[in-house]
Amino acid sequence: MSLADPVPDADQPAARSATTPVLTTERFGGSGWREMVALRHRVLRAPLGLSFSDADLAAEAGQLHLALRLGDTLAGTVLLLPPDSDGSAKLRQMAIDPALTGRGFGTLLLRHAEAELRRIGAIEARLSARETATGFYARLGYVSEGPSFIEVTLPHRLMRRRLDPGPSPA
Ligand SMILES: CC(C)(COP(=O)(O)OP(=O)(O)OC[C@H]1O[C@@H](n2cnc3c(N)ncnc32)[C@H](O)[C@@H]1OP(=O)(O)O)[C@@H](O)C(=O)NCCC(=O)NCCS
Repeated sequence: MSLADPVPDADQPAARSATTPVLTTERFGGSGWREMVALRHRVLRAPLGLSFSDADLAAEAGQLHLALRLGDTLAGTVLLLPPDSDGSAKLRQMAIDPALTGRGFGTLLLRHAEAELRRIGAIEARLSARETATGFYARLGYVSEGPSFIEVTLPHRLMRRRLDPGPSPA
């Protein structure tokens, strides 16, 4: 399946357009952002018996909130931090709705996030990958660095990928 294709069971023209993946940037504190927090809670915190604190969420004010939508359904989220002075920028809170994994949406969202990072001047993407997800990132060119460490109760690895240069300005 190509990443730009609609979900397989959408065979009517109206349904096809409603299920074509759309990438959006949500405003911190807005309704789209609140929906993203709910998905992140469901995928990344509730299974661990944890929740986001007010301080966790307030710290997201300066971050970019990217969403992947299928019609009215929020399918996935990722947050981007602005690049550091060395051009390395952090991705965090990558989550695809469990009902929609394995269809290429994670790849689509991550590649879109990398394009956004290039747009804001980053030359490298880095992330703390859950050990259970390192295979996903490795397939997409991320390289693990250093020992395993614990974050939000789970083993993680630092992973990095150099970002290809974008198209030259005309
Ligand atoms: C990890 C996650 C983002 C992947 O999203 P997805 O939409 O299922 O990924 P894709 O369908 O684009 O998969 C791309 C490839 O990676 C593989 N892959 C997906 N998840 C994987 C995993 N956890 N480990 C190893 N490989 C994985 C797929 O099989 C696919 O391989 P292929 O190209 O050979 O077919 C998603 O499963 C998720 O949200 N998981 C729970 C939360 C989580 O772990 N987030 C990451 C926190 S660091």
